[in-house]
Amino acid sequence: MAAERLINGILTPEDEAFDATLRPASLQEFIGQNKLKDNLSIFIEAAKRRKEPLDHVLFFGPPGLGKTTLAHIVAKELGANIRTTSGPVLERPGDLAGVLTNLEEGDVLFIDEIHRTSRVVEEYLYPAMEDFCIDIMIDKGPNARSIRINVPRFTMIGATTRSGLLSAPLRSRFGIIERLNYYDVEDLVKIVRRASQIMKIDVDHEGEIEIARRSRGTPRIANRLLRRIRDYAEVKADGKITGEVADKALQMLEVDREGLDQMDKRILEYILKEFQGGPVGVKNLAVGVGEEAETIEEIYEPYLIQRGFLKRTPNGRVLTERAYAHFNVKPPSRSEELF
Ligand SMILES: Nc1ncnc2c1ncn2[C@@H]1O[C@H](COP(=O)(O)OP(=O)(O)O)[C@@H](O)[C@H]1O
Ligand SMILES: [Mg+2]
Repeated sequence: MAAERLINGILTPEDEAFDATLRPASLQEFIGQNKLKDNLSIFIEAAKRRKEPLDHVLFFGPPGLGKTTLAHIVAKELGANIRTTSGPVLERPGDLAGVLTNLEEGDVLFIDEIHRTSRVVEEYLYPAMEDFCIDIMIDKGPNARSIRINVPRFTMIGATTRSGLLSAPLRSRFGIIERLNYYDVEDLVKIVRRASQIMKIDVDHEGEIEIARRSRGTPRIANRLLRRIRDYAEVKADGKITGEVADKALQMLEVDREGLDQMDKRILEYILKEFQGGPVGVKNLAVGVGEEAETIEEIYEPYLIQRGFLKRTPNGRVLTERAYAHFNVKPPSRSEELF
């Protein structure tokens, strides 16, 4: 459904087309995530002064928050070339060897979705990251032997949606681990303003706020909603996005006032109606709403938890008072012990 695709942070071909124009090119231009930016700029400066490659970096956080953008920014600030690949693409050790041996001293190797790297390839990553070498098996059977190849000193930047999906040994090889958090409305207003200036879209302050509030704390969604609302504004309101125009367009797109979409609502209502507010395990929930458990954990739940609609307990997910209020339902008295 349109609304569901609109408001998850996952990259679509359309986003990709806009990414090149909308992607901030320096830490300075990158809005929000202040602590992370401070840390990074110190590490980058120190590495440059020592004339050494930066430690390997891991970025983790929900889709659309800026991991890929940051990888490019880090390379740029280091004055280094960036090579990009992804976990699923590196199927066999040979794929990795090919990438590594083509690197030059100081290059950044960006591995997106690093948690989806196969086990065998992962084994080869360890010595590459630690000692800048790989052992390659040549020949088979009785003639099989391995040769050691040195690779240039490089900086690996990994990105993953959930750091918990990474094996402990791989995780431990990153010297810098940074989490990206959902953006607050103030930062998203700046992101919407920046994007609307680049795309030459006329948005007033109320319009900016409306989009910022309803984009799930996610820049990619804010940019996507901005494009959709522009379409609406061009057809229905001579192109100008005011608060009211944004609100109407978002209603049409089935994004509610809290930025919740159909699936968010389905999840909350399912817990409310079928489980009297919970607790319910994620597997049950997945079957009940017709979505994969992994997607629920990766995309829907983090935002519902962060916005205080849902709570994780040892027994499963439970609704909060805020969720009851959102549906205008009186919380059961039992819930008092839960809060
Ligand atoms: N801090 C930010 N400031 C401005 N725009 C941002 C910021 N973070 C992300 N974006 C925008 O959101 C889009 C998605 O970011 P991206 O780095 O691809 O996310 P991720 O790799 O985490 O899924 C980018 O193309 C960029 O336009
Ligand atoms: Mg990305």
